[in-house]
Formats: sequence, structure tokens, C-alpha cells
Amino acid sequence: MRSLAFDHEFVPGKSERTLLLLHGTGGNEHDLIELGRTLDPDAALLSPRGKVLENGMPRFFRRLAEGVFDLDDLKLRTNELADFIIGASRKYTLTQEKMVAVGYSNGANIAASTLLLRPNVLHAAVLFRAMVPIIPNPLPAIADVRVLICAGNQDQIIPSAEAERLAQLLRTCGATVSLELLNAGHGLTDGDLQIARTWLANL
Ligand code: MLT
Repeated sequence: MRSLAFDHEFVPGKSERTLLLLHGTGGNEHDLIELGRTLDPDAALLSPRGKVLENGMPRFFRRLAEGVFDLDDLKLRTNELADFIIGASRKYTLTQEKMVAVGYSNGANIAASTLLLRPNVLHAAVLFRAMVPIIPNPLPAIADVRVLICAGNQDQIIPSAEAERLAQLLRTCGATVSLELLNAGHGLTDGDLQIARTWLANL
């Protein structure tokens, strides 16, 4: 569906919660729907497709090289996504305070960027295989934000030290962060899903 600024899939839920599903590089708006249902059977699911194409692969923002981001584009795309979240919350009558971002890799990075650059839009996030996308100056105050970061100790794309840097940055901004280091690579494992399910159930 495309009546907001992003092509997206929306699946109504039975509870007040919405999972904002943000795919990785080369993914699309359908990729994480099943994962979202597994993580929370009752939540609404809102899943936009990244608008930047890298060799035909959708992403949420431009990068200059692996792990080297185009920060001007990142800021622009983060604002676009934040505006989409606000617009979609109105269109589908969602409780924005109950929106939880669930991002994988590039999707986790733009979720982290949204927490840092557009405080008050998201209050919780599950970040699978995330890194520090940007360090804003000044840092935002996000004391009401809760974040779960799941990192892989054999991740060749995003070293677990990057996940630790991100956890530290978000904590410095006041967020409550759980960091889980899994025996895993860049791909998601059953362990990731179990940890995220439990964390969401207790949110
Ligand atoms: C990114 O570009 O956001 C990260 O390098 C992860 C990826 O998408 O490969």
C-alpha cells in the first residue's frame, strides 16, 4: 500500500501495540511480517520499505561503503521515517506511545538513528545486529526509552563491539538498554527470537 511516504504493509492487531518492522539491506515490506507475528501475536504490524536503492537493493539510507554512512542522507531519511510513523499512527489510529521498532541490520540502524535524532517518536526498540549510526551533538535526553540490542559474537558485518558502543551511547542519553550477545553471526537465530519475545512480553 502507498498512501503515505513509504510503500508499506499494515496488518491490524488485537492489542494497542504496533511493531514497526524495519528490514535489512535488500529486504522489503513483506520480509519481517512473519517474524513480527512470531514476536507478538497480538500487535499490529507496520512495515515500510526502505526508499534508497543500492544496486537495486532497498535500504533505509545511503552508505558510502560497508559501515560508512552518508550522514546527510541518514538525517534526511530518519526524518522521513519519523514523519511516516506519525502519519501512519494517525491514518491507522495507532497508539504511537505503544509503537515498538523491530529492526534488523540496516533497519536496526535507522531505528537507532530515529531514537537519537527524533526523540519522542519511538519509545522502545528491538535492534538486531545494530551499530552506532550517528552521534548527535548535543545528545538527546531519552530517559523514557527502552531498547533491546541482540548482537552476534561471530558477526562479520557488525562486530559485537559496535553493539556495545551503541548500548553505551543510548545509556548515556538516558535510555534503559539490554544488550544480549548471542553465539551467532549476522543472521538471526532462534535465540534472537526467544530473547526478543520474552523482552517484549515484559515491556
Ligand atoms: C548498514 O549499512 O546499515 C549496515 O552496514 C548493515 C547492512 O545493511 O549491511
